[in-house]
Amino acid sequence: MALRPWTLRFQNCLLFSQKWIYRSVRSLSEHTKNIRYEIRPLKRADLPSLHALLAENKWYMEMSYLECVFNTDPSGLTVVVKDNGELIGHSGLLAHGDTIVGGGLTIIKDGYRHLGIGKHLFQEQMKAKGDRNGFGNILTNRITFYAPFGLTIMSHIIHFNQGPVDPEFIADVPEGDFEVVSARDMKFDDVIAYDSEIHTVPRPVYISNWAMHQLANTYVALKSGRVVGYGVVRPSDVGYKMHPLYADDPKIAKALFCRLASHIPTGQVMNFAQPIGNEQANAFVVGNKLTSYISMTRVYDKWNIPVDIQRVYSVSTTEFCII
Ligand SMILES: CC(C)(COP(=O)(O)OP(=O)(O)OC[C@H]1O[C@@H](n2cnc3c(N)ncnc32)[C@H](O)[C@@H]1OP(=O)(O)O)[C@@H](O)C(=O)NCCC(=O)NCCS
Repeated sequence: MALRPWTLRFQNCLLFSQKWIYRSVRSLSEHTKNIRYEIRPLKRADLPSLHALLAENKWYMEMSYLECVFNTDPSGLTVVVKDNGELIGHSGLLAHGDTIVGGGLTIIKDGYRHLGIGKHLFQEQMKAKGDRNGFGNILTNRITFYAPFGLTIMSHIIHFNQGPVDPEFIADVPEGDFEVVSARDMKFDDVIAYDSEIHTVPRPVYISNWAMHQLANTYVALKSGRVVGYGVVRPSDVGYKMHPLYADDPKIAKALFCRLASHIPTGQVMNFAQPIGNEQANAFVVGNKLTSYISMTRVYDKWNIPVDIQRVYSVSTTEFCII
């Protein structure tokens, strides 16, 4: 039977709780596009296609990052796949406990936008989110896409920055009543406990996957044996990511910054994403003459989750996590 514009046919899928959807969609210019697609959970084998889709949009989310999220919990990662097997969309949810879930990497492939597919995908994600408090970082020019879904409670703003580390900035390494050690030389449980204080919800699996990955260089600041800061630097598709950088005070943060930056080869850029409410973190961006290229606003749909921004110099990830 030929599909007519806006006609929906649903069939139950035995494998997943979601439904298979075939849809004929009409663009705003009234040209009909017969697109048959399904919305289904992402499988590990989809990761390379997802990576390529994100890179097309200049979202450089290296494979090892996507694997980190997938290995933490793949159950909220959802893709749109055409009947020819082409992956044309994605939206992810990562649960933090039973009451909070972070969303991210919502994208529809260029050429399939403004056809209602993104809305359809996000409706499915909001159903999967259920009664949990949902959050995401939203581009300023996308706020009107998310507001109808209830994501309207605005929280902190994050700036994404990129650029080489300034050798003069890291030549001045602060010293004090603390030491900086490799995370591999200590019990990582202590870092997880510190991370939980700042992230407000423990995420041992995610942060272990991220910070103890073979490509990660992770350093911890200790004061009398107590964790007072930590940071991770990892290679990305473009340069290196310094995600996160948490510290109890600016001196400790700078000491960690200098140690982490020493792993970034000359000529490579660093990616650093700071909550702009932290003036000292802003000073790191200015001090290294980094270029701010995107601003995103954190939004929630049920309640704001206050975090101690003054201890956050760079977020752990720009998607999925509270900070
Ligand atoms: C944002 C995005 C996912 C929307 O998907 P889409 O399939 O194009 O959206 P839809 O056609 O389902 O449109 C749904 C609604 O959002 C609106 N909308 C679509 N794109 C929008 C945009 N870029 N900004 C604001 N509103 C938008 C539509 O007008 C429509 O409103 P309506 O239901 O009142 O008609 C898609 O444009 C995209 O992938 N953009 C690039 C990646 C991106 O920016 N992702 C979001 C990061 S925060």
